[in-house]
Amino acid sequence: MAGDVRIGLITGGATGIGAAIARRFVQAKEKVVICDVDVDRGEKLVAEIGNSARFCNLDVADETQVNQTVDKVFADFGRIDFLINNAGINNDKLLIRMNREDWDRVLQVNLTGTFLVTKAVVKYMMKQRYGKIVNIASVIGLIGNFGQTNYAASKAGIIAFTKSCAKEFASRKINVNAVAPGFIETRMTESIPEEIRQNYFKLIPVGRFGDPLDVANVVFFLTSDEASYITGQTICVDGGMVMQ
Ligand code: NAI
Repeated sequence: MAGDVRIGLITGGATGIGAAIARRFVQAKEKVVICDVDVDRGEKLVAEIGNSARFCNLDVADETQVNQTVDKVFADFGRIDFLINNAGINNDKLLIRMNREDWDRVLQVNLTGTFLVTKAVVKYMMKQRYGKIVNIASVIGLIGNFGQTNYAASKAGIIAFTKSCAKEFASRKINVNAVAPGFIETRMTESIPEEIRQNYFKLIPVGRFGDPLDVANVVFFLTSDEASYITGQTICVDGGMVMQ
């Protein structure tokens, strides 16, 4: 693919880490399809980025919508080179207070959504004998956390899913990796009170929360030719918080 303009999907790309990933690919002159349930933010971002980006209103947990969207992207562009499974939600509460819906929705969006979009995209990548998939996990999927049993289980699931996909698709020249961010400055972390923030800083050797671009740069690298001998890995982007 060296020298060609690539095209790929970024789920949850309307804001936060996903938006930074979209900007990073466009900066490298690639084309991105931003898939998100947040139509306002998604359309604003695409208007800002210009012709290299397209927005699709997509709930990654809806199998019919996922298949229709992916088939349309392939029909329009003739290939799908990369997929960034970034859409994710949390709904934090202690296990004792967590009901079935709290559990199910987080698993459906984070883990089942990753499965559905990957399955829809990988059939095209297999035919192309080229593809780069990066799944956004979390360090919480490695170490667990109070109040995040649902989220931690979904992210640990993504890490195991990544390894299995890497084994299934390596012979088709498809790389599948995960990135596990630590604390990154986005909507997901903005409500953390200052006092708790200061306590977290003590656990992060670099001494700060990360910027979405810190994650985007690693995601972009994992889709590059320079990373073609890396597959099935989970790369922590966390200022040294979790050392594997
Ligand atoms: P965010 O809340 O700013 O962005 C998440 C995006 O996903 C939003 O645009 C949202 O509309 C979209 N989304 C939610 N449900 C969706 C669905 N069903 N279908 C399609 N899109 C959907 O959060 P942030 O921080 O940018 O998170 C991005 C990813 O990074 C998530 O998977 C999150 O779990 C992960 N992450 C974030 C960390 C952080 O500190 N911010 C740390 C570790 C992982």
